[in-house]
Amino acid sequence: MKGKARSIINILDLSVEELEHLFTLADDIERNPEKYQDRCAHKQLATLFYEPSTRTRLSFESAMLALGGQTLGFAGASSSSASKGESVADTISVMSNYVDIIAMRHPKEGAPVVAAMHTTVPFINAGDGGHFHPTQTLADLLTIRRTKQRLSGLTIGLCGDLKFGRTVHSLIDAMLRYPDNRYILISPEELRLPEYEIDKLHDAGAEFEETRSLEEAIPKLDILYMTRVQKERFFNEEDYVRLKDIYILTPDKLKSAKEDMAILHPLPRVNEISVAVDQDPRAKYFYQTLCGKQMRMALILYLLGLDQ
Ligand code: CP
Repeated sequence: MKGKARSIINILDLSVEELEHLFTLADDIERNPEKYQDRCAHKQLATLFYEPSTRTRLSFESAMLALGGQTLGFAGASSSSASKGESVADTISVMSNYVDIIAMRHPKEGAPVVAAMHTTVPFINAGDGGHFHPTQTLADLLTIRRTKQRLSGLTIGLCGDLKFGRTVHSLIDAMLRYPDNRYILISPEELRLPEYEIDKLHDAGAEFEETRSLEEAIPKLDILYMTRVQKERFFNEEDYVRLKDIYILTPDKLKSAKEDMAILHPLPRVNEISVAVDQDPRAKYFYQTLCGKQMRMALILYLLGLDQ
């Protein structure tokens, strides 16, 4: 029956208990990969990507292959019948006949809600416009949990494009469920966190401040979450060019950071982290991509009921 399968559109669609279960599962997958290598035998994942992606699409595919399953899909609307005018609703109704689970990325906010209404198999939002990116947040949470051994009592700096950066919105939504986290929002005025996210911080009674200065914020942070200025969401090229290099993290700027501060970035990186920072033991952004694959493996298993 349409719309009856479980859909993950927003990170809040998973309870804190379910997140805990997924972290435990991801840890077990890391320790004992052979235990899981055939779990998804004869199961198929569709990756329907209407927008470019490297990590999300390929880590979903890599995750399914590591579980012994198979994958199919498209990487770009132009190679699908969307280019002939087919709706998301119809595409999802068709794909539900072909596969056991679907991951979809779409440039339009809200497209996953339409998909969830039409799917008959588990459905995962792999990013919708400037809205949500729940599986990136799963990667972020596992990285924080493994590097800091906790998800509470942390001072988290979010830096860059806080307006269009969907990963920032999803991460704030997730971290607000854990106690005593403090937020430092580092951006220029034009890329401030949207009011609806600010309202969530107020409603949760969270401690937060807004600043333009990365240098001033750095010494206070346990986590620094850098983001790219999202070129594809700007209405005018001039504004993008003016803002794109506003923050560049360098080894020099890190001199005032805590020795155990973790640097995260959802990637892709453009200029906002100098490659010289990659050698710093605090740089966790490539490790974050491994956490992303393990969390996607855990989520696929959980949604297919193959986690036990
Ligand atoms: N982090 C992330 O979503 O990367 P991709 O756009 O490459 O999938």
